[in-house]
Amino acid sequence: MNTFCRNIFRLSVRMNSTAAQSSKKLQGKVAIVTASTDGIGLAIARRLGQDGAKVMVSSRKQQNVDETVRQLKGEELEVEGIVCHVGKTEDRSKLISKTLEKFGGIDILVSNAAVNPTFGPMLECSEEVWDKIFDVNVKAAFLLTKEVFPHMEKRGGGSVIFNSSIGGYVPFSLLGPYSVSKTALIGLTKALVHQLAASNIRVNLIAPGIIQTKFSEQLHSNDMVSQIALQNIPLGRFGKPEECAGIVSFLASDDASYITGEGFIIAGGTTSRL
Ligand SMILES: NC(=O)c1ccc[n+]([C@@H]2O[C@H](COP(=O)([O-])OP(=O)(O)OC[C@H]3O[C@@H](n4cnc5c(N)ncnc54)[C@H](OP(=O)(O)O)[C@@H]3O)[C@@H](O)[C@H]2O)c1
Repeated sequence: MNTFCRNIFRLSVRMNSTAAQSSKKLQGKVAIVTASTDGIGLAIARRLGQDGAKVMVSSRKQQNVDETVRQLKGEELEVEGIVCHVGKTEDRSKLISKTLEKFGGIDILVSNAAVNPTFGPMLECSEEVWDKIFDVNVKAAFLLTKEVFPHMEKRGGGSVIFNSSIGGYVPFSLLGPYSVSKTALIGLTKALVHQLAASNIRVNLIAPGIIQTKFSEQLHSNDMVSQIALQNIPLGRFGKPEECAGIVSFLASDDASYITGEGFIIAGGTTSRL
């Protein structure tokens, strides 16, 4: 190949790769994903990055954040990271300021963090545990939405996605307070929809069934428990974190421009509602 042909070839490769990049549906968007150093949050952060977004990952432990940033940058994704315990006001504020500093705006918030420190009869739950569950699972989701709101407004719109649970629709009796906190996220979605819509910000939620992560280990790693659980899952298996990520990317994108105030169950057909 002579020099002229080589240059034409290089130019066409560059044009093709630019075209491929600009066809990514989240190109130019900036996303915050909380609790994104493992499990479902990590899968969502990776998928948003693969679909073209710049992603701020976060969780409580610096080591987990560093490892995740290293891993995702190694996959050629545009990510930064910061420690953020979502229940801490100062951490949330730093999460937002670092996102603005690194990426110049915020278009997408995936509020994914949750805790479940109790398992057993609901009336045995202490006030302290109840408060912790609601602080992290519900109050922080609300406060984060409130805190990103002015920045999304400046961009002319945005997309907020909460991670609820199928237990938010059909409470698990041995996970009572956790289930009620997830029902509260369904209420929060419905309650926020009008005010956010006025600023072209959509708000939706996902409600996973049993997804194989550390969080649900007691359900899927114990043979007896998992056999019982699997009887209620028509697809006959537990979900994988990646299976929660595509729908979040869709909801974050302009493909979902007329969808707000909705919940999407990802549970292999487990009965949840009509
Ligand atoms: N797995 C399921 O079956 C299932 C089903 C329905 C709904 N969900 C929901 O999915 C979400 C993620 O669960 P998962 O199964 O992916 O959990 P996971 O695999 O155990 O991952 C938990 C992640 O959350 C971070 N984290 C924990 N507490 C945090 C806090 N207070 N602030 C910020 N980050 C925190 C952890 O990192 P650090 O330790 O570094 O903080 C880690 O990155 C939760 O909202 C959960 O309720 C899960």
